[in-house]
Amino acid sequence: MLVYLTNFFIAWLAYFWRPKQQPCDSLTLPHIPGVDIISMTRQEVYNYSVAASPPYSLADIHNLNFCNVSLTLTHPGENDTVAVSVWLPLANWNGRFQATGGGGLAAGIIGLASARPVSQGYATAATDGGLTLNGTSNPQTGAWALRPDGSINTALLENFAHRSIYDMTIIGKTLTERFYGSPPKYSYWTGCSTGGRQGYFAAAKYPSLFDGILAGAPALNFPRLIGYMSWPPMHMFQSAAPPQCVFDTFLKAIIDKCDPLDGATDGLISDYNPQSCPFDPETLVGQMVPCPEMASDSPVTITAQHATLVKQILQGPELPDHPNLWTGLPPGASFRGTANTEVINGSIVRPVPFFPIIGWIKNFVFRDPSYNVFDMNLDDFDTVYRLTLDAYNGIFGSDDFTLSDFRRAGGKLLTWHGMADELIPASWTNAFWDRVDRKNGGDADEFYRVFLAPGLGHCSAGYGPNPVDPLGALVRWVEEGSPPDRLSAATVRADGAEVTRELCRYPATLVYDGHGDVNDAGSFSCRPREA
Ligand SMILES: *[C@@H]1O[C@H](CO)[C@@H](O)[C@H](O)[C@H]1NC(C)=O
Ligand SMILES: *[C@@H]1O[C@H](CO)[C@@H](O)[C@H](O)[C@H]1NC(C)=O
Ligand SMILES: *[C@@H]1O[C@H](CO)[C@@H](O)[C@H](O)[C@H]1NC(C)=O
Ligand SMILES: *[C@@H]1O[C@H](CO)[C@@H](O)[C@H](O)[C@H]1NC(C)=O
Ligand SMILES: *[C@@H]1O[C@H](CO)[C@@H](O)[C@H](O)[C@H]1NC(C)=O
Repeated sequence: MLVYLTNFFIAWLAYFWRPKQQPCDSLTLPHIPGVDIISMTRQEVYNYSVAASPPYSLADIHNLNFCNVSLTLTHPGENDTVAVSVWLPLANWNGRFQATGGGGLAAGIIGLASARPVSQGYATAATDGGLTLNGTSNPQTGAWALRPDGSINTALLENFAHRSIYDMTIIGKTLTERFYGSPPKYSYWTGCSTGGRQGYFAAAKYPSLFDGILAGAPALNFPRLIGYMSWPPMHMFQSAAPPQCVFDTFLKAIIDKCDPLDGATDGLISDYNPQSCPFDPETLVGQMVPCPEMASDSPVTITAQHATLVKQILQGPELPDHPNLWTGLPPGASFRGTANTEVINGSIVRPVPFFPIIGWIKNFVFRDPSYNVFDMNLDDFDTVYRLTLDAYNGIFGSDDFTLSDFRRAGGKLLTWHGMADELIPASWTNAFWDRVDRKNGGDADEFYRVFLAPGLGHCSAGYGPNPVDPLGALVRWVEEGSPPDRLSAATVRADGAEVTRELCRYPATLVYDGHGDVNDAGSFSCRPREA
């Protein structure tokens, strides 16, 4: 009887003394070492909706109710103005915190990146890292690289590399605790591309900030990636740039040639080793292809010059003394990422470099916003590549990461990467995993897993199956100790057919069982890497 009464009393106490949710409009922040808060606003937002905008929200999201905390901070003496946005669900908080990352030359996407986490019950944060120059500049222009006097803005460089991850997360967790009366039980990072790269930097630089990190298609080895992305346009500035109908023909021929090699003619190349696709661009020379984007009705003839260009793009960048510093465009990946072109006035074909590359070359490399990227030749490419490696490998390089502190802190890192990623080849993620695995005594799998998706392009682009709920898989790994063995992926093809796959954990490869529907995950198994 006494036990019951005592229990009742404790429950009663717990009820009245439970941490109270603070009103949104009276939330404050304590002093946070290293930053000065310049301004802070907070108000409740009701019935907030966003339209689908991959990869931040894959479907329309409606009727969110949250406490919107918006603040700017500066690092004393560094003259930066960093915006941080924290959204706290007014009801049904799931007890977790989620920080979100950016893309290209942006550290984060305030507003857009926060809707999905809030719709799933997460308290969440995003930051611009100061790169919008107090809301006056698009970070993808790279204008933030230079101070008004033309020198490199080292404060913003550090924010972009990793510091803004820390600031946003400390502030986000603190506000979460103050608002709900208890700290988040688990904290997560989610991001793709640059957001994926930031996830790896979070693990390496701040090993106990997150329990789980979801890092899609990470922009690892950022300095070398710059060289990789500049290589195709650099060749096209020098020779004639083909219209995309030409590249699309090469892509189709590559898929036709290499898709069946994995045993299934399913339109997807499932072998992650680019060397295993023996495609020879010369075989297409002389072929005539219809080209609706050109004004003239006549088809375009594929030339030897086109074939050479495609060979260079598939091989990847080289410097005279460093052949093959990077792999080339993966087999099955669209040329519209790094080798995009546009047709002007029906007949003039111009290269369209991946936009952030232009800002990088002008501002980070030549420190001259008026520099004409479209006039560059291969000697200039050499300069861009070397200068980028020399000046930025120290801050953006990831070759020496072991992630062992993150492992010791109990963190889990889950990465997925499209094998047809048109911007960042998955083979670099594989090489990174191999190295970390070696440095961790061959059992990196205990805390770090990579899943490769055939036919998937950058983040959620491409034509192959897309991971369905990778964050859910990470949460089960972190909170239930149940590591993902395979990762469910699905897509609906243009012809309406649903294609599913259970993605394999690298270094295993998806192989067809030899019978059964090639669109169905059940017809495929994972084959371990051959010794
Ligand atoms: C939000 O929408 C619901 C129904 O869609 C409505 O009943 C409610 O009044 C709205 N709340 C506010 C604050 O606008
Ligand atoms: C959150 O607050 C900031 C600052 O007042 C404002 O600019 C922003 O639009 C708000 N976001 C939403 C979704 O209301
Ligand atoms: C500080 O930043 C502002 C806005 O970005 C700029 O106008 C000003 O010149 C900077 N001051 C110094 C000392 O760099
Ligand atoms: C940032 O912009 C706001 C207006 O949007 C302005 O009030 C504020 O003074 C600016 N802050 C700095 C540090 O320039
Ligand atoms: C396209 O045509 C317009 C109108 O004739 C002309 O002004 C423009 O310069 C042309 N563009 C190029 C790149 O030639």
